[in-house]
Amino acid sequence: MSSQISKSRVASSFSRAANSYDRSAQLQRDVGNELLQICQLKTASTVSTKKIYPVLDLGSGTGYFSEKLAALFPHSELICLDIAQGMLEHAKSMPGRDSFKWVCADAEALPLASNSIGLLFSSLAIQWCENLVQLFSEIDRVLKPGGLALISSLGPASLNELRLSWQGVDDKVHVNKFAPREEILTSLPASLSVEVNRQQMRVLEYEKLQQLTTDLKNIGAHNMNAGEAKGLTGRIKIKKFKRNYESFRQGNGKLPASYEVYYLCLRKAQTDPVERQKGVANGQL
Ligand SMILES: C[S@@+](CC[C@H](N)C(=O)[O-])C[C@H]1O[C@@H](n2cnc3c(N)ncnc32)[C@H](O)[C@@H]1O
Repeated sequence: MSSQISKSRVASSFSRAANSYDRSAQLQRDVGNELLQICQLKTASTVSTKKIYPVLDLGSGTGYFSEKLAALFPHSELICLDIAQGMLEHAKSMPGRDSFKWVCADAEALPLASNSIGLLFSSLAIQWCENLVQLFSEIDRVLKPGGLALISSLGPASLNELRLSWQGVDDKVHVNKFAPREEILTSLPASLSVEVNRQQMRVLEYEKLQQLTTDLKNIGAHNMNAGEAKGLTGRIKIKKFKRNYESFRQGNGKLPASYEVYYLCLRKAQTDPVERQKGVANGQL
């Protein structure tokens, strides 16, 4: 997460990646499935699937998890929101999604009514946001009292091998900067309480470095910082970078790509006991 990330670059990069995203999204699948499990655990006791809770998939991408959310909450209205129009168009074109609502918008300026969302799910999207205080203030605003937000994001140790391999080659920014967990937690308004706060390292393994760089390109998550190398990076620099990355090759012959993953479950405070009772009666979480 960096104040130098341009929103329009994020949107156009993910839009361009819409067709290739699903074939390179192993990490996103694994993390999203884990977040979905937390979501199931947190909602098991409170959700009756017969009731309608507007569910928001924030940064819905190709809609893989939107579909899973729809299956999990079949009687809920599902809103898929993404900043990349190309992602939304691709996701919308898939069969069986006619009942989903599609919104192209920035997570930091949600065009949704206050107190309107019962459950917010957001997997590996908020790391592209610029202003965490603004983001969480919006999440807090749109959630109903007692509503839940399930969020996964990446920490600064993500893609360390890539970052370290570029160090000493040039002084450009080659890997996106992601906010540490402390910064995320201190950006939360008092009305959002933390019910799950989990961190894990996930390591993907590759035979060849090119497979990693292709994956990053296919999902649209290659470097988006304003300070990245422009134009053709010299062959000598790339050779040096590749040699540096080879130093990470493991005993099993594979090249690692590490990701620091955060999982959060936040709950918006109930207002007062009378409102809480009304919320239960209205089927809020
Ligand atoms: C890595 S993809 C994850 C997609 C999906 N949640 C999944 O797990 O497969 C990140 C998505 O977040 C979207 N995104 C990035 N910044 C955003 C923002 N500020 N507001 C809304 N969506 C955003 C991107 O366009 C992209 O579709």
